[in-house]
Amino acid sequence: MPFISWDNKFSVKVLELDEQHRKLIDLINEFYDGMGKIENKKVLDKVLLELLHFSEYHFSSEEEYLHDNNYPTDLLREQVQQHREFSKTIKKFVHRFGSNESVPFVEVTNYLKKWLIEHMLDMDQKYAQYFNP
Ligand SMILES: [Fe+2]
Repeated sequence: MPFISWDNKFSVKVLELDEQHRKLIDLINEFYDGMGKIENKKVLDKVLLELLHFSEYHFSSEEEYLHDNNYPTDLLREQVQQHREFSKTIKKFVHRFGSNESVPFVEVTNYLKKWLIEHMLDMDQKYAQYFNP
């Protein structure tokens, strides 16, 4: 069973954004699958960087969609804030990996899973329901 599985309750009813969320899930699963294999360290660095870049790309798409559809400013601000916090944390992980500091993989994978699932079910469902009452 994958570390995170797609569930229809994550759907935000926007095909492009759902596909991006699926891709984020795939990247986190890829990272999780490489865990515990020391020889995979380079692969894990690469996957984490890919996750950082893809999540930033996804956040811009999502924020642009919300902005273009006149999503209320206070709710949009909350979204942006959570996105920034995630990026900041991933950058810290990338930095720790890069400086050869020992980073407990469990800490990273648990953070990724918890953040993404909670964010999709809370913040992202807020706009899905706002646009599809
Ligand atoms: Fe979001």
